Amino acid sequence: MATTLLTGGTVVSATGRSAADVLLDGETIAAVLAPGSTLLGHDLAASVDTVIDATGKYVIPGGIDAHTHMQLPFGGTSASDTFETGTRAAAWGGTTTIVDFAVQRAGERVQDGLAHWHELAAGNCAIDYGFHQIVGGVDAGSLAALPGLIDEGISSFKMFMAYPGVFYADDAQILRAMQVAADTGLLTMMHAENGPVIDVLAEQLIEKGKTSPYFHGVARAWQMEEEATHRAIMLSHLTGAPLYVVHVSAKQAVEQLAWARDNGQNVFGETCPQYLYLSLEDQLGASSEEWGDFEGAKWVCSTPLRSKHEGHQHHMWQALRTNDIQMVSTDHCPFCMKDQKTLGQGDFRAIPNGIGSVEHRMDLMYQGVVTGQITLERWVELTSTTPARMFGMYGKKGVIAPGADADIVVYDPAGHTSIGVGKTHHMNMDHSAWEGYEIDGHVDTVISRGKVVVDDGSYIGTKGDGRFVKRGLSQYLI
Ligand code: URP
Ligand code: ZN
Ligand code: ZN
Ligand code: ZN
Repeated sequence: MATTLLTGGTVVSATGRSAADVLLDGETIAAVLAPGSTLLGHDLAASVDTVIDATGKYVIPGGIDAHTHMQLPFGGTSASDTFETGTRAAAWGGTTTIVDFAVQRAGERVQDGLAHWHELAAGNCAIDYGFHQIVGGVDAGSLAALPGLIDEGISSFKMFMAYPGVFYADDAQILRAMQVAADTGLLTMMHAENGPVIDVLAEQLIEKGKTSPYFHGVARAWQMEEEATHRAIMLSHLTGAPLYVVHVSAKQAVEQLAWARDNGQNVFGETCPQYLYLSLEDQLGASSEEWGDFEGAKWVCSTPLRSKHEGHQHHMWQALRTNDIQMVSTDHCPFCMKDQKTLGQGDFRAIPNGIGSVEHRMDLMYQGVVTGQITLERWVELTSTTPARMFGMYGKKGVIAPGADADIVVYDPAGHTSIGVGKTHHMNMDHSAWEGYEIDGHVDTVISRGKVVVDDGSYIGTKGDGRFVKRGLSQYLI
């Protein structure tokens, strides 16, 4: 087995930082040592196969993006990143594990939806990957299949209070699924928006000729995110099923989560970089020479970007500090403008929902360290350690410690990253939702289970390096 020594760096964990060398033995972390340590009298640097000099850099556990949608069929098309292109882009950005969503549709067997997702991913991924299960049709068959997911290494499933006619589950269906979750230990993930009300509001806007992407954000009112979040919390309370609310964007939804947590509930929330940086006015309301007011389609996602005049972004950063929100994922769901987003020209309801960020999450969140929004340790916690604990991978993933998988990023705080097409853009999209963003830091080296896959901007891994991660039950519950 090849051995590697990372020397001279500052090892950062969720709880602290220290100068340390890290010894890798094959795919595993063998030791975290005082700088310059010898082992039984041997100079380690002289005895290992490879030495990586991390002097002046941070050595962190590889990023875990627990919310991606590679190849998701949605809105009459499919997300433009395959498992191959999307996981490679993730690696470039310092993410060494994704958890994607296998899809079961109404009328389909959960087992078949899952098997199909394995077919899509197997042999194609650059980094390790796990699955959550989308239950797009809650019925007797899918309910009966849920407990069996645990043996498959899938300990969480997602339901939708939005998207009537697509993935939508009504309250009675959610209740039944949560009862199964409470019995089995499965973690319920919820898309919390009141879909039926949003659909009426959207129809009324279209009838008034308000068809541009901006009105996607108007229709998906924060009140309907707050309301659905509250409803999910009460169903969680009633059934005893732990609840994880995905892609939280409204400050009022955060307040609901904080309230439930203060009541001692096992209720958690994730947000995404777009809700920390982007807004209804500046992005959904954008116009360009090329696209006119359809420019905003680049940022059509659900939940939507919120108004910059209502304090959501400020409140979200604060919630990251106070642990009212526990982690940051991307909800990576890329669509090109050409031939995909343009399906909704003239009717925002037909714009495929989603933006692509899997490549930039570690950098975008590091910029929050630079600007003083979060600490260095919190950066690691939000992007790696908590995702590992939340979704039953901790010990192997999310930590630099002996016995853990050697998933490591060397991050250079003196480096710089310019985000944009033609600069650092490897996702399979014809635009970047993050065009022009500048980061005061740089992903230098990415190690996935002991193998260097990114070396100062060059991808040197191989398709199929990534393996399926069988996850255990959540390690985050109170
Ligand atoms: O806009 C989004 N979020 N697209 C992906 C599907 C979902 O709801 O997560
Ligand atoms: Zn969703
Ligand atoms: Zn999603
Ligand atoms: Zn560099």
